Amino acid sequence: MTPRKDFLDVISLDRAEIVHLLDQAVPFKELLTRSVKKVPALKGKTVLMLFYEPSTRTLSSFEVAAKRLSADVTMFDVPHSSVTKGESVRDTIDTLQAMRADYIVVRHRLSGQPAAIARQTNASVINAGDGAHAHPTQALLDAFTLREVYPDLAGRKVVIVGDILHSRVARSTSLILERLGVEVAFCGPGSLVPKTGYRRFTNYDEAMAWGPDAVYLLRVQKERQDAPFYPSDREYHSVYGVTEERLKRLAGEGIYVMHPGPINRGVELCDAVLDYERCLISQQVENGIAARMAVLFGLKPQVT
Ligand code: CP
Repeated sequence: MTPRKDFLDVISLDRAEIVHLLDQAVPFKELLTRSVKKVPALKGKTVLMLFYEPSTRTLSSFEVAAKRLSADVTMFDVPHSSVTKGESVRDTIDTLQAMRADYIVVRHRLSGQPAAIARQTNASVINAGDGAHAHPTQALLDAFTLREVYPDLAGRKVVIVGDILHSRVARSTSLILERLGVEVAFCGPGSLVPKTGYRRFTNYDEAMAWGPDAVYLLRVQKERQDAPFYPSDREYHSVYGVTEERLKRLAGEGIYVMHPGPINRGVELCDAVLDYERCLISQQVENGIAARMAVLFGLKPQVT
């Protein structure tokens, strides 16, 4: 497989490349259980973390992933940088390019910004989430996590519940699962579930009657909404949230629960979900490191 320079979206990955990355992540996960959790694969390389939007999971797991591969990691501190004085992304990249980073991990509120940076630099650019467009490493860790419980994903069913409209996770995760043969459906308030090629539910019970193997909950992204898309959080929880009552049904049918985080307790899920034996949320976070190691390991920067 020819190594690619950048990792920007899921749409450009074919099934073989996805499977290769998932297979590659397996020994990296195993490595994390050893006493020495490091390999020299990226020794002498520099990874620059450039996050224009907040992050807990993606930022920290990329940092850990890069360090486990023995790379040097530079955290570019956007709030304390010249970005606050109006420096453009283009000028920031030109400046940072002079420091010869081999990999740039970018999160930005504008869809397409990581791709624009990738065109500007010889470093390998990894999209860590751009606007409502794509979050490809989240998709990879989601597929990896689901594959741990269902080694053959073909024919499995996953319903993604919540704010599909504003979700880069929904876009990327639905696509990667589809490429692996999973049947995907979307469920949520009509105002937040656009008509796509996927099966669409606006009624939670009807989505459950479809027989999903996993329910993938999404946070309602109020920061990307100009006006509320539903009456109240309490209303959302009672209509689409995993309440204690609904959790009993999920448990009875052995349905897994996933969520990319951060979670909103009392909105998309109740506290008890976190103690549910088929809740995969912690596993998703853990797998983020191995999945991101596989991505970094597989890229080929053009830095000379
Ligand atoms: N899932 C995810 O992208 O979480 P963070 O915003 O904390 O990185």
